[in-house]
Amino acid sequence: MATHKLLLLPGDGIGPEVMREVEKIVGWFRKRGLGFETETDLVGGSAYDAHGAAISDAAMNRAQEADAVLFGAVGGPKWDSVPYTVRPEAGLLRLRKDLGLFANLRPAICYPALADASSLKREVVEGLDIMIVRELTGGVYFGEPKEIVTLEDGSQRAVDTQLYHTHEVERIARVAFDLARKRRNKVSSAEKMNVMKTGVFWRQVVTRIHKAEFSDVELEHVLADNCAMQLVRWPKQFDVIVTDNLFGDILSDIAAMLTGSLGMLPSASLGAEDPVTGQRKALYEPVHGSAPDIAGKGLANPIAMIGSFGMALRYSFGLLDEADRLDRAIANVLASGTRTKDIAAPGANAVGTQDVGDAIVKELEAQS
Ligand code: NAI
Ligand code: MG
Repeated sequence: MATHKLLLLPGDGIGPEVMREVEKIVGWFRKRGLGFETETDLVGGSAYDAHGAAISDAAMNRAQEADAVLFGAVGGPKWDSVPYTVRPEAGLLRLRKDLGLFANLRPAICYPALADASSLKREVVEGLDIMIVRELTGGVYFGEPKEIVTLEDGSQRAVDTQLYHTHEVERIARVAFDLARKRRNKVSSAEKMNVMKTGVFWRQVVTRIHKAEFSDVELEHVLADNCAMQLVRWPKQFDVIVTDNLFGDILSDIAAMLTGSLGMLPSASLGAEDPVTGQRKALYEPVHGSAPDIAGKGLANPIAMIGSFGMALRYSFGLLDEADRLDRAIANVLASGTRTKDIAAPGANAVGTQDVGDAIVKELEAQS
């Protein structure tokens, strides 16, 4: 039996509450014979309180050795005045950097039961299933120079640098094309080649990789601002959207809101494939934060966290049947009306975090 090593980093606020529900799901799959081994460690404010750092070296080593990291959420008012370099977020940034997680996958899926929760019309969002692939470790957030300079005349100038190398665009393009092959075989690549050199370059590299390695996949190029409009007008035209760090940040947030609550949104961040084992470093986390306003009350929606584990099943372990089964269980639970407050139907009774986890386990059971 293959063993899959999971490192759980629940973090702060609602992180531990939603992680507990994932542990129920992991436990269920383990009982069914899948070899999951879990370890748990601290990250974020809780790690700062214990070690004075947002993640300890020991936890980092465990992350390096794990097949996948499940990350809850970090931060909260308690640590708002902590020095910048040891702030809770520094834990996540170090994980991303040290594990080389350059590809951020953000699915936007609209469950039929929640189509009326969107601000858009039901027919626009019902059945929606798109995947945004955002480059995560390059581009304007990291390019140098990055500074505010005071000039001789006393005025100031600020600069950020949008910078991409060939290999950075190639590897994110490959992730997108690979994903499209397992989905509806279409990639939309978004940049601004009309006004940016990095946009021209992005389009050239994506086109070359497409021709050489993925000519069976449909490729379209779209200007990033038009992509934003199309996402709101008719999102179902998209399958996989691949884009840089900055545009990806914004486009993924637009896509996310098509489908309702922050409590529903999973994500994955993937690193490079090991040439020998074919394995990738990977971290899976909900899009939401530590939600201090509802922490400790058992109100958090655990579906974003559970869905993140579903992505681990799919992308780290190749357990596609199990991932599909988990998705079906989530859809059925939503359809049955078992929902936390953030997604409860108007006038309906909301349930707690644990009830949703229990209901999903029950659904998994019912399907076998
Ligand atoms: P947030 O995502 O924690 O909360 C925003 C709103 O959405 C709140 O009203 C919250 O109650 C609600 N919400 C979030 N997740 C929910 C869930 N699973 N179920 C039901 N409702 C949910 O963002 P906010 O308030 O801006 O940040 C709070 C803290 O989280 C801050 O310290 C921030 O730095 C941190 N944060 C951490 C992130 C991470 O760990 N990756 C990401 C975003 C924020
Ligand atoms: Mg954002």
